Amino acid sequence: GISASAIAIDRRSLSAALPKRADDAHKGAAGHVLALGGDLGMGGAIRLAAEAALRCGAGLVSVATRPEHVGALLAGRPECMAHAVPEHEVPPADLLARATVLAIGPGLGRGGWGLSMLEAGLSAGKPSVLDADALWHVAQGARPPKRAVITPHPGEAARLLECSVEDIQSDRFAALRLLAERFRCVVLLKGNGSLIADGSTQDPTPSYVVDAGNPGLAVGGSGDVLTGVIAALLAQGLAPLQAARIGALLHATAGDVAAEQGQRGLLPSDLMSPLRQLINA
Ligand code: APR
Ligand code: MG
Repeated sequence: GISASAIAIDRRSLSAALPKRADDAHKGAAGHVLALGGDLGMGGAIRLAAEAALRCGAGLVSVATRPEHVGALLAGRPECMAHAVPEHEVPPADLLARATVLAIGPGLGRGGWGLSMLEAGLSAGKPSVLDADALWHVAQGARPPKRAVITPHPGEAARLLECSVEDIQSDRFAALRLLAERFRCVVLLKGNGSLIADGSTQDPTPSYVVDAGNPGLAVGGSGDVLTGVIAALLAQGLAPLQAARIGALLHATAGDVAAEQGQRGLLPSDLMSPLRQLINA
């Protein structure tokens, strides 16, 4: 089981969390994140995840998304590689094979396109972050792979556990433990005081609570940035638990830096520059 007393993690945990880049580093050494998502009408979500992965030091970032979104993605963030996946198709096997880590879910959608993208991603057997609509499909029976991090908000957690949001929020530690036991992976339960636990081991492991963040982060797209942050940390070699802990802390702390200019009107894009500063601090 998972201990009910959580270990608080704050800004001090960030220093020394990531190894310094070697002087002779090349892009391959910092990993290749492949982000899957962005169904029609939701192309921005996967772009935010991809950009956050770049800002958190991933060596290469590819996006597989709807053909309709490729132009805007490349125009806005030319550092990404973009692969168009039309209806009834899946990302090419060689692309999946080249990825170090997958980030699946932002704007994925609940239809057949999103489900087959998810299934193709899961079959690659790579360390993966599953978020947003990927978790909708998990609630319908898709299984997270080994070395997965799932990042439900309270509504997604309620769907995964077949209970109400009130049930989740009235005992967030109990919800965290149930999610970890059910899905046997690293779980990040988002919200005011995000909680992290590792369900992949049989041994009792502690849970962690993020002592940072503010309600300025309650805005569409904020969670998509977090998905990219965690994927970048996985791609740079952090274990899933460490990537989830440090990623959640980085994201929340970046939110606190961005909120120095006000919580209202904080955009997920405003997190990119603080993320870069914090990850290099
Ligand atoms: N205090 C601190 N942090 C907060 C607060 C708060 N009051 N509110 C939100 N956050 C943080 C969360 O911890 C999380 O990291 O902001 C992020 C919000 O993530 P999401 O809830 O996933 O938000 P968003 O990106 O808008 O995603 C919403 O995704 O899951 C789907 O169906 C959902 O379409 C919806 C979209
Ligand atoms: Mg979300």
